[in-house]
Amino acid sequence: MVSPLIYRVDEDTLRKAAELLRTGELVAFPTETVYGLGGDAFNAEALAKIFDVKKRPRFDPLIVHIAETGTLDTLTDLSLLEKANREKAALLTGRFWPGPLTLVLPKRPEVPALVSSGLPTVALRFPSHPEAQKLIRYSTGAVAAPSANSFGHLSPTRAEHVEADLGGSIAMILDGGPCQVGVESTVLDLTGGLPCILRPGGLPREEIEALIGETAQTPRDGAPGAQASPGMLKSHYAPRTTLILHSGKEMAELPFRKNEAYLFFDRPSMERWLIETGFSAQNLQAGEGIFYLSEDGDAVEAAGRLFEILHHLDGLGKIRIHAEEAPPEGLGAAINDRLIRAAA
Ligand code: TXA
Ligand code: MG
Repeated sequence: MVSPLIYRVDEDTLRKAAELLRTGELVAFPTETVYGLGGDAFNAEALAKIFDVKKRPRFDPLIVHIAETGTLDTLTDLSLLEKANREKAALLTGRFWPGPLTLVLPKRPEVPALVSSGLPTVALRFPSHPEAQKLIRYSTGAVAAPSANSFGHLSPTRAEHVEADLGGSIAMILDGGPCQVGVESTVLDLTGGLPCILRPGGLPREEIEALIGETAQTPRDGAPGAQASPGMLKSHYAPRTTLILHSGKEMAELPFRKNEAYLFFDRPSMERWLIETGFSAQNLQAGEGIFYLSEDGDAVEAAGRLFEILHHLDGLGKIRIHAEEAPPEGLGAAINDRLIRAAA
């Protein structure tokens, strides 16, 4: 069945979507990380709708998406940064924009308080997805967009995920196919002293540190100490099915139960387990709920499949999902962050 909400992205549908954004409506659109739920960043009513549609608490601020570095100055006042961080901001935007890096910067007073939940800062991201860039340019140049899912749910990496979660309450979903990166952007706060990673994401910490030196990381659970990142709640990105996170060793020792699902980090660890439990890969049925994130331990591939596979496993009606931790390097940090929250 063709959905009346989902439009294949092309020049016409982009113009139509941009018009909706200009008139204060919400549009879901693809980015390289996950699908976003966009609204004009300068329209308070559109912003209020974003919070309502997502059932998102008002204390959890939004990311503003831009498509030209020039727009930066209309949203942030970089002169308020410490000199060293001003230089780091220039290095980071020069190297990693457009791409999966969100920078938290001093907010200009003209930016509605609702965007940043009353904080003196604003989170800015320049996505690399060409159609996302066009949509932003064709509309108002500044589009506030959280991930296009109900608060706390799994993030969408396909138009169909958005429709299943938010279908009844948005005007249009632009379909650009599956998202490449598959996990949300890395959020980096430059407004303090040492740059601080508020959310691990599509740009690995190692790459950031190779460019600007040491970074800090906030404690994982949202409680005290992590105030600067109000949206980083302990339970988040959660499937409806209970998820249990295991080390590789624990995972290898799990018995097979027909009503449970198993998500291995890579194919070799899945195959070792299958042999242990008496299965052979050839006998594996699609409905069995046994999956791996990467063929050969590639964290980039694994991140790209994470939400996609979790959406699928969630639909199988199993009583629980067992998931194996990723090695912590590179994008493994973002994968583990999402799995830990999904399990909380
Ligand atoms: O990849 C992404 O970033 C996706 C796509 C759509 O661009 N967007 C996304 O937005 O993940 P959202 O709303 O689901 O996550 C935004 C995160 C939250 O953890 C929020 O707390 C944090 O960014 N954030 C936003 N503004 C902030 C600010 N001013 N200070 C600190 N954290 C902020
Ligand atoms: Mg989100």
